[in-house]
Formats: sequence, C-alpha cells, structure tokens
Amino acid sequence: MRALIAAGGRATRLRPISHTLNKHLLPLANKPMLEYAIIKLVEAGITEIIINVNLGDVEISSRIGDGSRYGAQITYLEQQGGALGIAHAVNNARAYLSGEPFVFYLGDNVMAGSIKTLRHTYESEGYNAMIALARVKDPNRFGVPEFDITGKLVRAHEKPENPSSPFAITGLYFFDDKFFEAFKTMKPSARGEYEITDIITWFIQNARIGTQEITGWWKDTGTPDALLEGNALLLDEMHVSEMKNEGELKPGASIQGKVCIGRGTVIGPEVLVRGPVIIGENCKIDHAYIGPYTSIGDGVLIQGPEIEHSIIMENAKIFCSERITDSIIGAKAAVNSSKNTMPRGHRLVLGDNSLVEL
Ligand code: DAU
Repeated sequence: MRALIAAGGRATRLRPISHTLNKHLLPLANKPMLEYAIIKLVEAGITEIIINVNLGDVEISSRIGDGSRYGAQITYLEQQGGALGIAHAVNNARAYLSGEPFVFYLGDNVMAGSIKTLRHTYESEGYNAMIALARVKDPNRFGVPEFDITGKLVRAHEKPENPSSPFAITGLYFFDDKFFEAFKTMKPSARGEYEITDIITWFIQNARIGTQEITGWWKDTGTPDALLEGNALLLDEMHVSEMKNEGELKPGASIQGKVCIGRGTVIGPEVLVRGPVIIGENCKIDHAYIGPYTSIGDGVLIQGPEIEHSIIMENAKIFCSERITDSIIGAKAAVNSSKNTMPRGHRLVLGDNSLVEL
C-alpha cells in the first residue's frame, strides 16, 4: 500500500506565520508537522510515500529529504494547475497511486495512536473506501457525514452551516482505484475546489465505503489555536524516556515534570521550567518561568518573561518581563521590553496579517 500526503494549499488561516514557512513545516513539539504523518504511516507499514506540494515548492523536500531517515521512500509531486482542492491533489498523483488501494493523509492533521487498526479494518472488510471520523464540538469547520435514521451513511457535506452529525471527517482516507473513476465525474465546488466530500458521496452512492471513529485525540492544525492545541497534545503524549536533559542547568535552576532540553542549552539559576516543555539546542534562558505546553526551538534567547502554552520558533529573542501565553512567535522574531524607551507605549513592527492582543 502506498500513501499520498497533501502538503500544498495556501494556509491563509495561519498567516503571517505561513508567509515565510510552509505550514507543514511549522514545528509541533519541535518537529515539523509533516513528520508526524510520515512516522504514523511508516509505523503502519506504509513506506512508499508521495508528498503533494505546491508548484515550485522546494522547501519541503529540502527539509524532509528522501525519507531514508524515517525508513521510507519519499517522492515529491507538484500539484499541476495549482491548489485546486484536495481531491484534485489525489488525481494529480494518479500515475503513482492507481492499481492498488492507497492511504490519503492530510499533512496538517495530527492524531494520537496508531493507524494500523484502521488499515487493518479497511483491508479486512474489503471496502472500496474508508473514512475516519472524529467527534468534534464544531463540525461546521469540517467535512461532515450524514446518516439516515437507520444509521446508514448517506452523504458527506463540506463545512455545512447546519451539520447533520457531530462528526468531522478527518484527513485520513483509504481509497481504491475507483477514486479515479469518481474524479472523472467531479466538478469544482462554489469555492473553486475539487472537494473530497463529493468523492466520498460518490463512493456512498456507487461503491462500498466504511467509517471508523477515531477514539483518541485528532487535530486539524489549520488555525493558530489548533496549532497550539496540537503542540500541547503532542507534548502530553511524549514519553518520559524521550524527555532527555542534555543541556546545562545552573545551580538554582528548577525543572518540574516532563522537560526535554537540547544540547548546548543553558538554563540560568533563576529559571523555573514546568513541563511538559521541550527546549531545543543552544538556547539561553535566564530569569524566566517556562510553563506547561511550551515548545522552544533551537537558538532561542529568553530573559525575563513568563511563557506558557506557546510555540517559540528558532532563534527568536524574548527580552522582557511580561507574561506571554497562547502565543506563536516566529523564527528570529524579537520581543523586547519598552519600559526604558520614551515616549512610553507599545512599539510594534508587525508583518501583514499579524495578530497582537495587548
Ligand atoms: O482536516 C480535515 C478536513 O480537511 C476535512 O474535514 C475536510 O472535508 C477537507 O476538505 C479538509 O478541509 P480543510 O479546509 O481543512 O482543507 P485545507 O484547505 O486546509 O487542506 C487540507 C490539507 O491539504 C492541507 O494540508 C493543505 C493540503 N492541500 C490543500 C489544497 C486545497 C493541498 O495539498 N492541495 C490543495 O489543493
């Protein structure tokens, strides 16, 4: 079985962070988001992976490589014609996928646990397609399955205003060759995309499709809040054995709970780190509190603040005594104290589509 991972698209909801870094490379617990999809596939025995990227994208392949470090063979495929929808991305990979069943995985989805059982169910039931469902509070943000009163799946709707069930169709799909037959009948939706929910409806009407509920957590990390939640869930899931301290703790520095500290990082005497927290390599942290669910990339310098439930990307500098929570701070960004500068006030240099809450 081969897999296709979708890693193209426009990522408008993650601007400005996604202006300078492809969203699939944004760090969650200090690993590019895309790695989680690759690792899950390899764990389920699927090692031939195709990654769908935007036209001209070289950032993803140069960062992720040929797959050998994950025990996989990765091929990168540009989505010809542009980001015309996720069903279009699958059809674009037809030459690689036709002939046998395949997994389609949305690269911005992260989830708990293994996908082995899902693969097993799909194969043993002999379905033409199978979708994985997750119970969510806000199904209107996703593809939603509709069931009739007997519990039979009758349709799939894309981001419906009035969802007919409490489920989201997650970004993990199993399809066989019939996908390409279905695609021939597809037309772009009102938003100009070839919708995966139309393909699913085709399978409901013309073939055998199964559903399986994901019982562990699942996150579509398409928005800043969801990204922070995904980061927190992954930090929670990290095993204590992965949380090594390879840095230097100055006498008086205090570490509580699950904390991972990278090589070359120095934690000063007046610092409290309360896990789950991951801190990369070559960071320097002084006079600070680093609270739960924070991921700090390599080369970050921090002096003075309290930080919690945040993602701080590589080489950022935070020199202030404020409290920073629920924040995403991009690579090389600087947060300084304005206390000693006149006139008093917040001094901001913000890129397009930035968000600041004062
Ligand atoms: O996360 C689950 C949801 O994903 C499903 O419930 C929806 O039915 C499905 O349409 C999709 O909705 P999103 O609005 O979240 O899709 P998004 O545009 O964010 O794209 C999902 C992934 O596919 C993301 O990693 C980007 C990538 N992509 C997207 C488009 C439109 C491509 O690779 N090519 C594309 O043309």
